[in-house]
Amino acid sequence: MDEHHFYVTTPIYYVNDKPHIGHAYTTILADVLARYNRSLDVPTYFLTGTDEHGQKVQKAAEKRGIPPKQHCDETVVAFQELWKKLGITNDFFIRTTQDNHVAVVQEVLQKLFDSGDIYKKDYDGWYCVGDERFYTEKDLVDGKCPDCGREVTKLVESNYFFRMSKYQDWLINYIETHPDFILPAFRANETLGFLRKPLEDLCISRPKSRLSWGIELPFDRDYVCYVWFDALLNYVSAVGYLRDDGRFARWWPASCQLIGKDILTTHSVYWTTMLKAMDVPLPKTIFAHGWWLIGNTKMSKSLGNVVNPMEMVEKYGVDAFRYFLLSEMTPGQDASFTEDVFVTRYNSDLANDLGNFLSRVIKLTIRSCNGTVPAAGEKLPEDLEFEKTAMDAVGVMEDSLREMKIDRGLDAVLNIARAGNRYFELTKPWKLAKDGDTARLNTVLNVAAGALFRSAVLLSPVMPGKMAELGAALGYSEAEFAACRIAGLRTMLDPVTGRTIADTAGLFPRVEQAPVPEAKPAKAEKKAVSGAVPEGVKLISIEDFCKTRLKTAKVLSAEPVEGADKLLKLQIDLGSEQRQLVAGIAKFYTPEEVTGRTIVVVANLQPAVIRGVPSQGMLLAAKAGKTLRLLAVDGDMIPGADIG
Ligand code: MSP
Repeated sequence: MDEHHFYVTTPIYYVNDKPHIGHAYTTILADVLARYNRSLDVPTYFLTGTDEHGQKVQKAAEKRGIPPKQHCDETVVAFQELWKKLGITNDFFIRTTQDNHVAVVQEVLQKLFDSGDIYKKDYDGWYCVGDERFYTEKDLVDGKCPDCGREVTKLVESNYFFRMSKYQDWLINYIETHPDFILPAFRANETLGFLRKPLEDLCISRPKSRLSWGIELPFDRDYVCYVWFDALLNYVSAVGYLRDDGRFARWWPASCQLIGKDILTTHSVYWTTMLKAMDVPLPKTIFAHGWWLIGNTKMSKSLGNVVNPMEMVEKYGVDAFRYFLLSEMTPGQDASFTEDVFVTRYNSDLANDLGNFLSRVIKLTIRSCNGTVPAAGEKLPEDLEFEKTAMDAVGVMEDSLREMKIDRGLDAVLNIARAGNRYFELTKPWKLAKDGDTARLNTVLNVAAGALFRSAVLLSPVMPGKMAELGAALGYSEAEFAACRIAGLRTMLDPVTGRTIADTAGLFPRVEQAPVPEAKPAKAEKKAVSGAVPEGVKLISIEDFCKTRLKTAKVLSAEPVEGADKLLKLQIDLGSEQRQLVAGIAKFYTPEEVTGRTIVVVANLQPAVIRGVPSQGMLLAAKAGKTLRLLAVDGDMIPGADIG
């Protein structure tokens, strides 16, 4: 990250819908990065906002029978209120209908039109009236719309195009020579893969006869600007582009542009070539995170499984929700959300590990030392070892924030609490108190309270509210605790002696887990004919089998997993996405032997962490005795093909 400034952005969200956990995740992630950078005294700017033009918004407004601007004004509130509730510290909230943004977009359009990077041409294609979209001949499926299957009509339309193709070679070279530009690295490869085909120019206009809700082209009033071309410019219009050179130079280039994996191309190709044409430097990093699945299924309105963040916050509290999202997802990979997984993690990490540790420290100090943290005496090896665990977590947390591996940082902090509980079991301070061994008791309580304080500071960007409460319980005023920095923990050798402890009745009360209903056997299973299979083998119905989604996948690369001689870590191409999976095949295949193969994987397995390495899916192999062979398909097959 740039030493002189930190400018972080989220995508701007469409106002046609209500905010969901995907939106909440990106915005919380940006917030944590912003809070952390501010705490390092790095000048920080955090931008989020809403994308208010285009067909989706126009349609949503039409459905409600109100003008689009009124629709935007009403729906934007849900986002703004949610960010307030989630403690989001954005410096600005941009709306693409704001006058300044509209004017900047028009100036950019004019500039690129004047320079010849935007030009007009006839576009002929197949138009689907239902979807209001153009398709090329090769997009069609059996001559019909590839999306809805309806008839399409041949249409010729004049439109304006951005000369994106001109920048293809430059972009390939830029990505290849800037390894931090698109992260995780496999997303850079995905972009390079996309750029292997000739890049077409981008249609950046829509005739008003088809779509009126957009920014008018300054050089042709019969057209409005394509919504993505307008939306992407928010990242620069918000920080003074073409308006305030000093301000723009202060913040741009952005340090970190967070996006979801589905909008990679619009950012890594459209946005970057637009910037190049505008002669504006590129952001330092575009980071694409994975998706939240609901169980194993895509979250979607039609499936009725969209998770409303507001409801989760009302039920479990802001900090628990922020903690869950950041600890459960490895940035870059998909993660699975269910309320059950939420409650399990909440109870195990926050109520049990951290909650028990903090309540033990606080209660014992109040009971045995009149509520004042005593000074430590001579430290024994177990004290030093526990202190080291807490100190080591500082570096892990810092690295994890820099390298976008926040789940690892959080795990290291939770490990302090886990080690703290073990430390108490080992040193038994309650027994020391009972036996009157004050010297030893004082040391143990001092060491434990110090570790608890460090945990509170380390967790504060993620759980600002609860950690401020914990700071207060450890005798820190609000201002004093807010001034404590992660980086400062290394030099704060004794942050707790003499502090007055206050009781915190349950920072993280345990939540009762709703019982998981026992699965009823499927009808087909009941009717199964007995005797058809060997005894002890349970029959499954076709419905049961169909729950497992088997797919072909191509192994893009493979490497050993450090410290685990049986495991290989594979990057695989599943057609529509790339994933990482960990497989116990290292004794049977070298990384070189598996790379390039087409294998068979279970695509809808819950993500797991195997020896500290996230794994999304499982490959299939046949095993007999000491032999293992990978399952393969007979002949060539594309990655992502369904098996069954
Ligand atoms: N308006 C565009 C972005 C323009 S940025 C110049 C847009 N908006 S969106 O509201 O549809 O999506 C915003 C973000 O939400 C995207 O980054 C997308 O990846 C993310 N998510 C949508 N569903 C998601 C999950 N299920 N999980 C995580 N994030 C997901 O696209």
